[in-house]
Amino acid sequence: MPGFQPPPTVVDRQPDRSPSPGEPGPEKQYDRKVETRAARIAVIGVGYVGLPLALAYANQGFTVTGLDVDESKAAMLNAGQSYLDDVPSGALAEEVRSSRLTATGDVGVLQSADVIFVCVPTPCTKNKEPDTSQIRSAAESIARHLRKGTLVILRSTSYPGTTEELVRPILETSGRKVGTDVFLAFAPERVDPGRQDYTIRNTPVLVGGCDQESTRRARLVLSQVAEQVVTMSSPAAAEMAKLLENVFRNVNIALVNQLAMLCDRMGLDIWEITSAAATKPYGFLPFHPGPGVGGHCIPVDPYSPGRRGNTTSTWISSNLQLASMMTCHTSWPQRSCSRLMGIMRHLLHAFCSWELLSSGTSQTIVTPPHSGSWRFFEGGGRRFDTTIRTYRNFPSGVTSSGANP
Ligand SMILES: NC(=O)c1ccc[n+]([C@@H]2O[C@H](COP(=O)([O-])OP(=O)(O)OC[C@H]3O[C@@H](n4cnc5c(N)ncnc54)[C@H](O)[C@@H]3O)[C@@H](O)[C@H]2O)c1
Repeated sequence: MPGFQPPPTVVDRQPDRSPSPGEPGPEKQYDRKVETRAARIAVIGVGYVGLPLALAYANQGFTVTGLDVDESKAAMLNAGQSYLDDVPSGALAEEVRSSRLTATGDVGVLQSADVIFVCVPTPCTKNKEPDTSQIRSAAESIARHLRKGTLVILRSTSYPGTTEELVRPILETSGRKVGTDVFLAFAPERVDPGRQDYTIRNTPVLVGGCDQESTRRARLVLSQVAEQVVTMSSPAAAEMAKLLENVFRNVNIALVNQLAMLCDRMGLDIWEITSAAATKPYGFLPFHPGPGVGGHCIPVDPYSPGRRGNTTSTWISSNLQLASMMTCHTSWPQRSCSRLMGIMRHLLHAFCSWELLSSGTSQTIVTPPHSGSWRFFEGGGRRFDTTIRTYRNFPSGVTSSGANP
């Protein structure tokens, strides 16, 4: 692999122990450890994906360690303080008090882990190449502390081939062979921060292992926190399925954003149009216009499928074209935009509540969907007025979960 530097030789690994006669084989031992909650879980990267996952396993009675290069996150987690809106401090503090959940910056903890989840960021470079440096760095840390029997599950979104072609060779520099000594799978994350109706438990999770035993082990541990685990033929298939989901969302929001501008010029209301189209009971999913597609992964994911072998299929180049066309609509600096929209949302909510209360109406105020579903704010006050009108015309009961799936 070009540019790959093998990690330093392992010096701190404990010797492997083979089962003595009469003891169950390694597969059975693993299963028993998972089922009895004796398996130790490590989560590398306790951000939007890693922290809820770590908490979900702690809630199920596992001993979980979050490993993060960001010391402030580890410190807050150990103090039982959440740094994410989605994760209540109370729930976190309870698991921290019971010692089921801790955090550290010390990669040495990986040595005692039976299952290691990798939940690190996967941005793209300024040349629109996927930046896998954080996956590489996490894999190198694992390789230095890899124990026989450990299962590694990559959850970060990345291009098809990442698990097999990037992570696997790094793990195998430890001298352990994937499929016999250690196990490796890819299980993409589907969390939608801010969403209450779909959680880790009721969102089906995809998994593809490098071999049958990796898939089997990954499936078992994932099924402890998710009701439905869907196994796939390979990590690359699961990687591509995740990209399809993200690209699907990306291009559909791009489409509806384009349509919103067209409707505006034609004096039509895009919300009326999307709601009407959504009455079709099959073959259509409503997406709503807004300044962002959500998160930091979806805007960069159209660039991932073509990464492998510089493929130039029509599907991929169309996505790349669409993604670049979206610059002014959906690829604004996501975080600042979401923050601005968050502030606007609160102001608007307060304003509408006051207006409706003072006019004596009993209409339900719905919380507008998060950033991905806002109308454009270009055009200043006039547009703001339109937004309020549209907002007030929402059917009651519309919730954020109904928007941009
Ligand atoms: N946020 C989402 O809604 C979402 C949804 C689905 C998938 N994903 C994907 O999940 C992955 C993680 O995203 P996120 O939103 O949780 O990112 P995040 O930035 O919130 O958290 C990642 C954490 O990893 C830590 N980290 C980075 N390199 C590390 C290393 N070598 N060792 C230890 N810790 C390290 C960072 O300090 C950070 O705290 C990305 O690939 C993203 O595309 C995100």
